[in-house]
Amino acid sequence: MTIVSSMKNIILLGCGGHARSIADLALHIGFQKILFVDKNAKPGEAILDFPVLPNVPAKLSGNWLYFAGSGNNKIRYEQLSLIKSKRLPLAKLISPLSILGKNTTVEEGCFVGNHVYVGPNSKIGLGSILNNHSLIEHDCDIGSFTHVSVNSTVAGNCKVGNFVMMGASSTLIDNINIGNNIVIGAGAVVVRDCNIVGTYVGVPAKLIN
Ligand SMILES: CC(C)(COP(=O)(O)OP(=O)(O)OC[C@H]1O[C@@H](n2cnc3c(N)ncnc32)[C@H](O)[C@@H]1OP(=O)(O)O)[C@@H](O)C(=O)NCCC(=O)NCCS
Repeated sequence: MTIVSSMKNIILLGCGGHARSIADLALHIGFQKILFVDKNAKPGEAILDFPVLPNVPAKLSGNWLYFAGSGNNKIRYEQLSLIKSKRLPLAKLISPLSILGKNTTVEEGCFVGNHVYVGPNSKIGLGSILNNHSLIEHDCDIGSFTHVSVNSTVAGNCKVGNFVMMGASSTLIDNINIGNNIVIGAGAVVVRDCNIVGTYVGVPAKLIN
């Protein structure tokens, strides 16, 4: 199979819910073609009118970038590691409807969705997701392969580790430290540091396992 394009196209590894959001943003910011790659692709499968294939075709012409498409932090890490190990060109997707503050940096492989605000002097690590309507305030450090879900808030001076999952509409008050591999439940309000690996839920958030 040969796909011809002189425009910018994107290969998304995975085809779950988050990959669909990525595809939608990619189309909005001018990518022309999308190819979903998933080993469980069914014959003839398509999403948003673009093909889902089990492998990247051997002959692929045009300008293609790659992106790790899973919302699951561990799977996204594996996808991004594969892209990097093959030295393939990696995309970084930032919605033009989002605002990044002065001196804020966003590493490669990140997804910054629509209506995200990141205040000044913040850092967003490799392959992380700032999902639609999330808010990261000033002087925050968000690690790698972390997912800040839709409508979540990270107030100023927070440090969030690697492989953290912040559920939808969760909140960290200012000056909070979240360790690596921690899950914050949807709607939780975190008022104390979370350093024991596990899942924290509720208001105020408590460790449940
Ligand atoms: C926190 C979470 C990860 C827990 O999932 P889980 O490990 O499968 O836990 P369970 O569903 O078995 O729930 C365990 C207990 O915690 C409670 N609980 C689960 N999620 C909760 C939440 N967000 N807030 C308060 N309590 C919660 C359950 O009611 C249950 O309580 P019980 O033992 O008294 O019945 C999950 O519920 C969650 O909030 N995920 C976030 C998903 C999300 O926001 N995705 C956004 C993608 S953009």
